[in-house]
Amino acid sequence: MNDSALRSDGSRRVAFVTAAAGAGIGAAIVRALADDGWSVVVTDAHGRRAFEHAERLSAEYGREFLPIHLDVTDFAAVAAAAEQAAAWQGGIDGLVNSAGWNKLEPLIEMSPETWQRTIDVDLTGTFNCLRNVVPLIVERGGGAVVNISSIAAWEMSTEHGAAYSAAKAGILALTRVAAAELGSKGVRVNAIAPGLIYNDFLIKVYPAEFFAGYAEARSLVGRVGRPEDVGNLAAFLMSDRAGYITGEVMGISGGVAPNA
Ligand SMILES: NC(=O)c1ccc[n+]([C@@H]2O[C@H](COP(=O)([O-])OP(=O)(O)OC[C@H]3O[C@@H](n4cnc5c(N)ncnc54)[C@H](O)[C@@H]3O)[C@@H](O)[C@H]2O)c1
Repeated sequence: MNDSALRSDGSRRVAFVTAAAGAGIGAAIVRALADDGWSVVVTDAHGRRAFEHAERLSAEYGREFLPIHLDVTDFAAVAAAAEQAAAWQGGIDGLVNSAGWNKLEPLIEMSPETWQRTIDVDLTGTFNCLRNVVPLIVERGGGAVVNISSIAAWEMSTEHGAAYSAAKAGILALTRVAAAELGSKGVRVNAIAPGLIYNDFLIKVYPAEFFAGYAEARSLVGRVGRPEDVGNLAAFLMSDRAGYITGEVMGISGGVAPNA
């Protein structure tokens, strides 16, 4: 347990995490925060998975995790979820925007639906959560936000798709403006830009060639990323140990596409 997950009255800080019940980064962030001592609101568009994941964590950690069925594209639902989360333990101290969606289509073949869905989930979903959760963090006297972007935001590559790259680049701009506006209110806002962080669902999105030789030929550390790599970085940025860090983008890609 890390003391910086405790408020001055000794109660646990509360984090609101989106897309928190999948096989990848979101679920790993929940675990890293829980290991540090945070109380965590486990929200996910897949309701059953959110409830099962929260139940598993509650049994494992011997304390309550709050599951909420939440699609981040639904502004009213995000507002309701934020209220429910704040009522749970008296407030919210942190937010992690991890929800993302991608469908690979070349730009000149991309359907308007693919473009719109990607922007809706990745960029507007991040706005919806900032807009509804951050006022509650401000009410508590401050806290921290982490937005999950991607190296797709700056990499000149055919690998990620135009909509996803544009949305993830938008998250960086959103992060910087949010940090500028919220610093005086005690809220730090940072972004994490991962490279390949493997989970089994990725093979549904990326072609097999994308993975071939990645660990050996592209990564500088001889492996692909693991969800817990990002979980650890997110937990650090959420903690007081990162108290002088705001408005930054932390790349985490095994050296594949460093953030210049
Ligand atoms: N995996 C990678 O290599 C990688 C690299 C760079 C960035 N990212 C970003 O990291 C984040 C997590 O990705 P991951 O691949 O680790 O998957 P993940 O397992 O953490 O996330 C999948 C979960 O997202 C949920 N989800 C999907 N759409 C949603 C919505 N509209 N609202 C709420 N929840 C929704 C799904 O129900 C699922 O449980 C995403 O933002 C992704 O773009 C991933």
